[in-house]
Amino acid sequence: MRTPIVVANWKLNKTVGEAVEFTSALKGMVSGVDGVEVVVTPAFTALNAVASTLSGSNIHLSAQDVFWADNGAFTGEISPAMLKDVGCEYVIIGHSERRQYFGETNESVNKKVKAALSYDLRPIVCVGESLEDREAGRTESVIDNHVRNGIAGISPEAMQSAVIAYEPVWAIGTGVTATPDQAQDAHLVIRSLLSELYSVELAAQVRIQYGGSVKPENTSELMTQPDVDGALVGGASLEVESFAAIARLAG
Ligand code: PGA
Repeated sequence: MRTPIVVANWKLNKTVGEAVEFTSALKGMVSGVDGVEVVVTPAFTALNAVASTLSGSNIHLSAQDVFWADNGAFTGEISPAMLKDVGCEYVIIGHSERRQYFGETNESVNKKVKAALSYDLRPIVCVGESLEDREAGRTESVIDNHVRNGIAGISPEAMQSAVIAYEPVWAIGTGVTATPDQAQDAHLVIRSLLSELYSVELAAQVRIQYGGSVKPENTSELMTQPDVDGALVGGASLEVESFAAIARLAG
């Protein structure tokens, strides 16, 4: 049985004070919520303070990105060890905004996934097609390419701790959500590929979450799909009431 995972991706939002205020409130709102793993993803600057706020709660901490090197002359970058040091358990890797604006490629995603796993950081590997891809009938091949190359060389043991986030680019921040059927179809493509690359058993264990304009109003119908194991939430995660509602509905 896969426990759904609901992740707040705050992107470039929230000062330390705002992040702490949000997580203090969220703790109370989800303390009795069972059957769902709740994760928050502040900016790097707020990770330390949010980790302290979350201490003793059932909420997990994630970063929004990581670099693959342990240390060295890489101005501006953050290593997996640094994220572990501040209490991160997860890290988002390969978000479409990083692919679009910051030159992230399948190759860099793969290096980051390997680096994260070598420090016991659980990667949330983002994959998904653009509108152009979908309209050209390339949805499956893009997903296949992102997943296959993003997790190349990852052992079955390590893969068990990873999460895959299916995020169609056309649904991110647009208010247009994939229909439950579109999400299910894509998630099934991913799970079938995991069966092919690893085994049916392993594929049945890995969580595949959906992201792209998830809000309280559309959470339940997405979560009823058999292969949708939670949500990666951007805009609707910025308000604590709507994020807590999504977490409750996914549980
Ligand atoms: P959105 O973002 O919920 O604002 O569409 C999702 C994401 O980018 O992870």
